[in-house]
Amino acid sequence: MSESIQIISGTKQEQYHHLFPQIKSLLEAETDLIANMANLCAVLKEQFDWLWIGFYIVKDDQLVLGPFQGPIACTRINYNKGVCGASWANKKSIIVPDVDLFPGHIACSSLSKSEIVIPLIKENHVIAVLDIDSKDLNTFNKMDQEYLEQMLECL
Ligand code: SME
Repeated sequence: MSESIQIISGTKQEQYHHLFPQIKSLLEAETDLIANMANLCAVLKEQFDWLWIGFYIVKDDQLVLGPFQGPIACTRINYNKGVCGASWANKKSIIVPDVDLFPGHIACSSLSKSEIVIPLIKENHVIAVLDIDSKDLNTFNKMDQEYLEQMLECL
């Protein structure tokens, strides 16, 4: 398998466009979910350098911290709590332009200003969520959502 990813500068669209095929082949070369989650976080961190990128995995009635890149984070999130719990409950991606305006947002880091959460759905069940935090307001838009959803389809 490829052990390095080519990182480029450019617009966000150009970065995603260049990165996506590399991520697809990286993930398709491995069947272990946790290994792939870990590498996906590493690649996204390297390309975009967002504050925190990680997975929370559904275990019984909670989300439990999985592979991530960034500062230490909350380890457990209840169903329908915070942005992650809301994404789990609604089976939908959520873009939060300003975390202070999201009722019930769980602040693992005071540096986080905006956020996106994408559910990983298998056989109609959410089995995990990908959570990404940014130090800036308004970091994420529909383009991020679409590319990140496509990346999760490779898991
Ligand atoms: N902000 C998230 C909690 C997880 S941390 O950001 C890593 C939420 O509201 O669910």
